Amino acid sequence: MVLVLAWLAASLPVEPLDLVIGLVLFVLALALAPDSVEALHRGPDAAEVAARSFEETLFRVGETVGLPWVIVDERGTVRQVNALAARQFAKLELGVPVSLSLRNPVLVSAIDNCRRTGASQTVEMQQAVPTLMFFRVHVAPLAPLLADMPTTHKWMVITFADVTEQRRIDAMRADFIANASHELRTPLTSVIGFIETLRGPAARDAKAREKFLGIMATQSGRMSRLIDDLLSLSRIESRQHLTPSGTVDLRGLLDEVSESLAPQAAEAGVTISCHLPPSAVVISGDRTELHEVFENLMENALKYGGDGGSIEVSLKPAATGSGYAYAITVTDHGPGIPAEHVPRLTERFYRVDAESSRKKKGTGLGLAIVKHIVNRHRGLMTIRSELGKGTSVEVLLPA
Ligand SMILES: Nc1ncnc2c1ncn2[C@@H]1O[C@H](COP(=O)(O)OP(=O)(O)O)[C@@H](O)[C@H]1O
Ligand SMILES: [Mg+2]
Repeated sequence: MVLVLAWLAASLPVEPLDLVIGLVLFVLALALAPDSVEALHRGPDAAEVAARSFEETLFRVGETVGLPWVIVDERGTVRQVNALAARQFAKLELGVPVSLSLRNPVLVSAIDNCRRTGASQTVEMQQAVPTLMFFRVHVAPLAPLLADMPTTHKWMVITFADVTEQRRIDAMRADFIANASHELRTPLTSVIGFIETLRGPAARDAKAREKFLGIMATQSGRMSRLIDDLLSLSRIESRQHLTPSGTVDLRGLLDEVSESLAPQAAEAGVTISCHLPPSAVVISGDRTELHEVFENLMENALKYGGDGGSIEVSLKPAATGSGYAYAITVTDHGPGIPAEHVPRLTERFYRVDAESSRKKKGTGLGLAIVKHIVNRHRGLMTIRSELGKGTSVEVLLPA
């Protein structure tokens, strides 16, 4: 029995979880007394009893494994399903071939290959309903330790590890790199083009040179802002799990940010009015990061909601029972944001209108940065917007 369980442990896919499973199997091996393999040598009846006792043991082991686990016979018919597998794959049924219940060609061919070659198979399987999920599936033969077992010698044990989250992160990373490259590529192509023109056809045209240098400066500025934002994002992400250590006076900070945007506001014909408490409001947090948060939010209000003519910034105690200490709100009276865009605004590079954002020197990373900083401060950001009325962004922060 010890051998059986030790082999089962070895047949599971290699993961930290296996250590736990291995340990459980080992403890079980000590606990489960009947030694079925030995009984095999005591005649046909004894062998049958042994086989049943072995199946029973297998079943109990299956229930202790922290992964969906299924045992199929040589025809791929389901013989055992642990509770996790039954919950994950509602269609699995005892006595029914996996090929009929799960209808997954990758899984079916892994079972086939395992049976034919006697070697374990690891494959990745997708399941589309009810939601798209990915599993790393391991199919291992029970044969090596059951050479004399009459019924179970070609059975296989299948474990399913959910790798959906990993695939989602992979896809996000690939998307992010594609987006970042595209955002850098566009201005770079333009700069390279103008360098060619200045070296060739426009070499002696002073007027054209002035114009092209101006465009090149704009495009270089765009690349530079993008790189600043990318670095900012990566710095904040790498510190995401560390609680900020300093202290900040929110009142002073909001005052300072609105002052620093006054020239920009005056140019756009917008007034920024601050409704702040009379004395300092000190919380623990990272001053530079929180500065970035409110600068981004006020800049957005100016850039995209400036038509409304005024912006209000307020700092108040958060509602009692909300779990937060302070609520900071930046409100504009601009055109607002169509509802379908609101939940996606904090995604990297997501913009309602990419062209307008580029014209306004946006990178599409501002709100992604804001969200990361607010998360790091254990806060909560909520964007509320109504078409034709304006947008209001609320940041809740703990003390
Ligand atoms: N106050 C606002 N009013 C209307 N649209 C806004 C507002 N704030 C943000 N947005 C929209 O959200 C998008 C993402 O904002 P952000 O992440 O700061 O990127 P950026 O400002 O660099 O474009 C903006 O491009 C804009 O379309
Ligand atoms: Mg912005």
